[in-house]
Amino acid sequence: MFETWDVSRWSLIRQETIGADEKYWLADPNDRQAWLFKANNTHRNAAGEWSQREDFAEKVGGELASAMGIPCARIELARRDDESGCVSLNLCPEGWELQTGAVVLDGLLEDYEPGYMGNKARPGHSLENICQALDGYGPPPGAAVPAGFEAFDVFVGYVVFDAVVANRDRHDENWAVMRPPPDGSRATLAGSFDHARALGSTLREAKMSALLQGGVSNWCEKGTAWRFEHDPELTCPTLVQVASSALRMVAPAVREYWLESVADITEATVVGLTSRIPDMSVVVSTFIEQVVMTNRRRVLDGC
Ligand SMILES: Nc1ncnc2c1ncn2[C@@H]1O[C@H](COP(=O)(O)OP(=O)(O)OP(=O)(O)O)[C@@H](O)[C@H]1O
Ligand SMILES: [Mg+2]
Repeated sequence: MFETWDVSRWSLIRQETIGADEKYWLADPNDRQAWLFKANNTHRNAAGEWSQREDFAEKVGGELASAMGIPCARIELARRDDESGCVSLNLCPEGWELQTGAVVLDGLLEDYEPGYMGNKARPGHSLENICQALDGYGPPPGAAVPAGFEAFDVFVGYVVFDAVVANRDRHDENWAVMRPPPDGSRATLAGSFDHARALGSTLREAKMSALLQGGVSNWCEKGTAWRFEHDPELTCPTLVQVASSALRMVAPAVREYWLESVADITEATVVGLTSRIPDMSVVVSTFIEQVVMTNRRRVLDGC
């Protein structure tokens, strides 16, 4: 089983101001490394209380990303006092600065509207602009990607991974670059982070159960890439269609590399992860397995 870390006594470094939900940077007392504590969202109504399982999505998503060779934040399941959630290890090396995609695109485009301004068409947040904005950046430090991969080659991997795990949340503050101190190092793409909305984490278990009755294909096909630029008058492209577009923008060797990493996912890979999550019900684990395997097929057929 994956361990659940008790971080109740870890000291507070600061609150994270980016993002919709309350989150805290905490220091691991053993080595002073900074981890972002993200509590699961809890909903209360007359019928009672229920909790979304973003921690499952972050942990299974993070482990699956690593298995696919996607550089990403290390995630551990965690508890802080009476709150359940996860911790995400700071991607940014000491002395470096993380800048979100919103900041990067603002530097590239004169009239860029950051995603948090709420324009549903997401003008400017397109693969073409991201490719241009990442020109000159290297892959994340220590990334296990083939030599010669540049930042956009790795970003394409994130988009392919999102299609596999049904992550519709790759907005401009859910990817970032990292700038080094003035020591001559090269600025890089940051590893992938925030997979909290992947794998149906916002669905209640009864809904997952109902979806499993008829197979999850229809649900997977509704996975739209609404966080990327699109015409709101037209049908929004799916995550698989955007992954296909992204894979057409890179060299054949890069495309083959990511498609191979998708082909390599087996049911055993996914079960090997879900079976290690404490308290995961059969309904949730079956749902996650079917979503990943269905999307794996959709990516291989559609890209
Ligand atoms: N592992 C990490 N290393 C460095 N910075 C991180 C890491 N995880 C998150 N961040 C920073 O914290 C911000 C908020 O975190 P995150 O995106 O995980 O939270 P969120 O509240 O779920 O966001 P959203 O509004 O997208 O739902 C990110 O935009 C990023 O700037
Ligand atoms: Mg986020």
